Amino acid sequence: MKICLLPGDGIGVEIVDAAVEVLDAAAKKYGFEIEYDKQLIGGCAIDATGVPLPEATIASAKAADAVLLGAVGGPKWDNVAPDIRPEKGLLGIRKALGLYCNLRPMTVSKFTAHLSPLKTERAEGADLLIVRELTGGIYFGEHNEAHLNADGVEEASDVELYTRPEVERIARFAFEAAKKRRGKVTSVDKANVLGSSRMWRKIVAEMQAKDYPEVELNNFYVDNCAMQLVLNPKQFDVILTNNIFGDILSDEASTIAGSIGLLPSASLGDGTGMYEPIHGSAPDIAGQGIANPLATILSVAMMLRYSLNQNEAADAMEAAVDAVMEQGYRTPDLYAEGLKKVSTSEIGHLVAQELLK
Ligand code: NAD
Ligand code: IPM
Ligand code: MN
Repeated sequence: MKICLLPGDGIGVEIVDAAVEVLDAAAKKYGFEIEYDKQLIGGCAIDATGVPLPEATIASAKAADAVLLGAVGGPKWDNVAPDIRPEKGLLGIRKALGLYCNLRPMTVSKFTAHLSPLKTERAEGADLLIVRELTGGIYFGEHNEAHLNADGVEEASDVELYTRPEVERIARFAFEAAKKRRGKVTSVDKANVLGSSRMWRKIVAEMQAKDYPEVELNNFYVDNCAMQLVLNPKQFDVILTNNIFGDILSDEASTIAGSIGLLPSASLGDGTGMYEPIHGSAPDIAGQGIANPLATILSVAMMLRYSLNQNEAADAMEAAVDAVMEQGYRTPDLYAEGLKKVSTSEIGHLVAQELLK
């Protein structure tokens, strides 16, 4: 199996190193071979080539069985031209690979429930899946950077646009996922204000009535959803939403689990899938060896399941993460008294050893 590795910037490098050690352990244990092709994306690609997404990176990703990405961006590149920002590299590869569906599962385990900012009994047992549309909406609509308009007033704009086929294909993913889970989809929009949301809500309702009568569907406005997530996260099964609302709600959901360093994701479409933690390059802790690599390791487990057809190895990897948590090892983001504080590479190594047992 060919894996395209895109560590990117900041903690991306450290967490991908840790995840590779765990993937190598899985390959050894379950008898498959991995060939890595490491490529540049984001700020490091700008420094080396002048652009955040070199052609070689796209070619490597397309030729691979799966892509593993760390994170991109950082203060060093905050003032580069908008069209070559590091984040443009990430958006560009999502688009180039046609990755319209981003799955972001959030579960609260008994090992971290007490670290949730929510009361333990509210958080523990929460188990939801955010199905985020990833190649449309305001991220990809027409952008007009700040300029002076005809009246000499400075203005800027970004367009939120969805087509029916874009909504249908992501909604189908959410309904199918719900059928394999607890049979409930909550579609999140802002249909009280936005035309794009009114169309979204109409299409989702039509599809439920026609093709998924067995799936329960409810609709929340995004502001209410943000509130409901912290009020009662256990009410959610599958959350279906657009690109920008999914971005925001997944960071909010992650903290319920105890740390953003725990949330993995899979970006899927018609070709090669890409796997990445939901968090960013964390410039505030980069280079210190203290970032939590478990989100990246759990993203590798999703890769084994969705792209590499190694379900047994995926289950074992998730179980190995749980076992290490059970033994009390924690990176600083999840540390509390009485536990054992370890570094990024140490926890990666512990998970790899557990997997090899
Ligand atoms: P961030 O997710 O990088 O960090 C937010 C906070 O969470 C920070 O305090 C950070 O230390 C902490 N954190 C994040 N991941 C962690 C981990 N694995 N372990 C422990 N703590 C962790 O978000 P930000 O600070 O808003 O953004 C920083 C840069 O990352 C920006 O350039 C942004 O555009 C980029 N970004 C990239 C991605 C991506 O590549 N997928 C995602 C989000 C943000
Ligand atoms: C994420 C990130 C990206 C997004 C940025 C870095 C473009 O926040 O993957 O959640 O908004 O999709
Ligand atoms: Mn985000």
